[in-house]
Amino acid sequence: MGMDMNYEQALEKLARAGQEHVMERYEELGKEQKELLLAQIEATDFSVLASLKHGKGGNARGVIAPLAAMELPQIRHEEGRFRALGLDAIRQGKVGAVLLAGGMGTRLGSDDPKGMYNIGVTKEVYIFQRLIENLMQVVEEAEAFIPLYVMTSDKNHHATVEFLKEHGYFGYREEFVTFFMQEMAPACDYEGKVYMEEPWKISTSPNGNGGWYTSMYKWGVAQKAMEDGVEWLNVFAVDNVLQRIADPCFVGAAIDRQCDVGAKVVHKCAPDEKIGVICLEDGRPSIVEYYELTEELMNTKDEKGEPAYSFGVILNYLFRIAGLEKIREKNLPLHVVEKKIPYIDAQGNHIKPQEPNGYKFEQLVLDMIHELDSCLPYEVERNKEFAPIKNKTGIDSVESARALCKENGILL
Ligand code: UTP
Repeated sequence: MGMDMNYEQALEKLARAGQEHVMERYEELGKEQKELLLAQIEATDFSVLASLKHGKGGNARGVIAPLAAMELPQIRHEEGRFRALGLDAIRQGKVGAVLLAGGMGTRLGSDDPKGMYNIGVTKEVYIFQRLIENLMQVVEEAEAFIPLYVMTSDKNHHATVEFLKEHGYFGYREEFVTFFMQEMAPACDYEGKVYMEEPWKISTSPNGNGGWYTSMYKWGVAQKAMEDGVEWLNVFAVDNVLQRIADPCFVGAAIDRQCDVGAKVVHKCAPDEKIGVICLEDGRPSIVEYYELTEELMNTKDEKGEPAYSFGVILNYLFRIAGLEKIREKNLPLHVVEKKIPYIDAQGNHIKPQEPNGYKFEQLVLDMIHELDSCLPYEVERNKEFAPIKNKTGIDSVESARALCKENGILL
């Protein structure tokens, strides 16, 4: 403990970042609270705030060109071989799965971790359960368990771990489940001053899903995976309740084509659908987010006269660890997002704002793709593999996901 940051050092760090107000009430705090605050100041990376000065909004884009996907007919043609390759890799313990569950799921509006949400109608079916059921199908086919790494954040770690334990990991073998936590980033007001959640606590939020490998490494989980012989990591979002995880065919295709990353993609349902589009940027694989997709790109046709940018990513990627190791030290771009940030006011009242009142800082997994040398976009049928839950009702909601589950014969 002797090595911890003391009062002067903390103040100096804050002064360098222009955040002295963080210790404004230090003298009023109890001993334990003082220690908590000092520890948090020490752990917080205030450098993210500097990105506000460079102006928000996207980073300048390079030259965009189409990147051909491996489409369904071709996948069907080679399916047998791909599947055999994939199952073989799974049986040899070369494939792990990484569940990104550190997000706050604010749009869904539940205080619990998103995976704890019950989408059942006639019985309980939790989102976590749905995902594990899908993974179990592969475990049964391969007759081998797949290491499952679960990323949580400071805000939901405890609840997530307890919930999964309580439910016996929904039948998954406990020794194949490993948790690790992502980093947090401070949240600030429009002037770039960090908000306080309590007089002894800076408002922080999870730093986006792009830091997953760095966090996995910090926790020693990536090293352990490599020691165990894992070579591929299938990263997936918590909210797509239909997705195939460690899909043997996808794994086999990525191995066969020797790429650094495979990206599951779907045909966009409309040119302006709100999903990121896979492409080349300055000759390297990349993803253009929907709000960066210009009219011109939306209307560009390929040689067959089809839209050239028609495949969207669904946050299901298969990364080769060797490729990730090469980019581990690289900094990903920081996205500045306007959000509602709870805070305490000058009188010490806890305020839960109804409107956005500041910025959060996030790194995104899709930005990792551009750092890698090669990417295989791999088409899946959207009605069979894409049912994201972002909202309660409407587009990408509990409702729409329930309908899609039904269509696929999944009893809820
Ligand atoms: P979303 O972009 O939907 O974010 O996450 P979210 O924070 O969960 O939801 P909203 O925007 O507040 O409603 C896509 C995936 O990335 C994970 C989420 O858990 C989800 O699986 N994620 C997101 C993280 O693991 N960490 C983060 O910091 C953000």
